[in-house]
Amino acid sequence: MQIFSMYPTWPAVVLAALQLMAATYVVEGIGVNWGTQASQNLHPATIVQMLKDNKIDKIKLFDSDPWTVKHFAGTGIEVMLGIPNNQLKDLAQDYDKATDWVKQNLTKHIYDGGVNIRYVAVGNEPLLKSYNGSNLASIFPALRNIQKAINEEGLGDKVKATSPQNADVYDSSSNKPSDGQFRSDIRDLMYQIVQFLQINDAPFTVNIYPFLSLYLNPNFPVEFAFFDGGAKPVNDNGTIYSNMLDANIDTLVWALRKTSYPDVKIIIGEIGWPTDGDVNANVQMAKKFYDGFFKKMATKQGTPIYPKEIEYYLFSLTDENQKSVAPGDFERHWGLFKYDGKPKFPMDFSGQGHDKMPVAAKNVTYLESKWCVFNPDVKNMDRVPTNMDYACSMGDCTTLNHGSSCNKLDETSKISYAFNMYFQMNNQDVESCNFDGLAKVVDVNASADHCLFPIAIESDGGKIGFKIGFSVFGGLLALLLLF
Ligand SMILES: *[C@@H]1O[C@H](CO)[C@@H](O)[C@H](O)[C@H]1NC(C)=O
Ligand SMILES: *[C@@H]1O[C@H](CO)[C@@H](O)[C@H](O)[C@H]1NC(C)=O
Ligand SMILES: *[C@@H]1O[C@H](CO)[C@@H](O)[C@H](O)[C@H]1NC(C)=O
Ligand SMILES: *[C@@H]1O[C@H](CO)[C@@H](O)[C@H](O)[C@H]1NC(C)=O
Ligand SMILES: *[C@@H]1O[C@H](CO)[C@@H](O)[C@H](O)[C@H]1NC(C)=O
Repeated sequence: MQIFSMYPTWPAVVLAALQLMAATYVVEGIGVNWGTQASQNLHPATIVQMLKDNKIDKIKLFDSDPWTVKHFAGTGIEVMLGIPNNQLKDLAQDYDKATDWVKQNLTKHIYDGGVNIRYVAVGNEPLLKSYNGSNLASIFPALRNIQKAINEEGLGDKVKATSPQNADVYDSSSNKPSDGQFRSDIRDLMYQIVQFLQINDAPFTVNIYPFLSLYLNPNFPVEFAFFDGGAKPVNDNGTIYSNMLDANIDTLVWALRKTSYPDVKIIIGEIGWPTDGDVNANVQMAKKFYDGFFKKMATKQGTPIYPKEIEYYLFSLTDENQKSVAPGDFERHWGLFKYDGKPKFPMDFSGQGHDKMPVAAKNVTYLESKWCVFNPDVKNMDRVPTNMDYACSMGDCTTLNHGSSCNKLDETSKISYAFNMYFQMNNQDVESCNFDGLAKVVDVNASADHCLFPIAIESDGGKIGFKIGFSVFGGLLALLLLF
């Protein structure tokens, strides 16, 4: 009682404390990746509003386009800048280039009321096995040069360079986390990187995808990808794992323990579940994944052997219809939101199970309500395959294949779908709805059940040169193909 009497307005104090907890609660953990490999991107001002409306307060970018970054000034949103892999060689070989990069892309944004930048992601999964070692020589010197340049600008206490890795930089001979170690072909390099991160108090960033485990291995126990405890647990010498995420993070923890620097902080640079483009990529499974994930996050418990709260960046904010589909069609469907910033399914970022639709992007302008479809008057179908191939290779047909949302369309609707995507991705340019006379523009919504024929959004205007380049290049190719 005595203690309480120190606080005359005790209930109010408790209330305030609770409110504070509630307020900081979402704020601490949740970040989101925003990639812009799309034919049209939302305006950065729209993105800022979307993040605020949904109480997401960290964003991870894949480049450092100054026009984009400056929109985050004064918002309080924490930004992770990105350096694409194709810049690593220059930054590794020439320290002056690293200094320039830091001055132009970092220091410029740091002022009172400027951008809250905490991390610079040097490269993106640079040591991915499928890159055949092309970044092997440059990743460490580039990381070192960037952090050195940051330190010389006097920003080293606040801004840390890190290098997001795919989880394929480590493995386990037995599928048990305790056998985890860095991949043998890059082990020495990983030791150097880990040592450097530790010395600079910078985090080890790793991207982890339970979906990919399932995609790549048909025998993967499905429930182990989720968090509902439905899978047979893995017993690692007394430590029990009921989900792939914990097991994967702890494999990294064990790999780190086998270096001389076991205490490097871990952050998850990408995690998520796609909603289209594969039999396991759909709204139901994505919702199941995120529901379990947010609930787990809310416990702030880390993993069985890494009990600290972990910082996560969801992948991804919006769908990107120009991502490479080399890994699979699902690549273009990682968004929590569709291409136009509309939410896909209800969720609760706070993990309290209060299902509701996330707040959609505001101030989005669409192009006219018109679609490019197969012209039903056409009788001779000889030229369909060539034109379909062209539309799909330059546009986006990732919803048409087995297991995807538009797979059930009849053949002519599939042709229409391919033509329309190409047309919309080229900003409804009339010349992009010709296809040897097989196509025509209509103003009747061509969408079918579960298969959206989208209307493109107006481009953000930030990288207009690229957009024009794309459509001119597309047009030229079309000419070459036709004649
Ligand atoms: C700043 O970042 C942009 C976008 O990632 C890049 O194109 C540019 O080369 C960088 N500037 C310098 C001086 O390196
Ligand atoms: C890596 O090598 C394989 C096989 O030689 C090749 O198909 C692939 O294109 C290469 N990837 C890169 C990024 O160089
Ligand atoms: C298993 O755990 C026990 C006790 O915690 C330990 O003594 C033993 O070395 C561990 N075994 C392995 C193979 O790690
Ligand atoms: C709405 O978008 C336009 C351009 O697309 C922009 O100029 C304007 O500032 C935006 N308004 C708000 C409130 O974000
Ligand atoms: C077309 O129809 C689909 C499905 O009914 C709908 O979601 C979409 O908003 C419509 N598009 C337009 C531009 O009205």
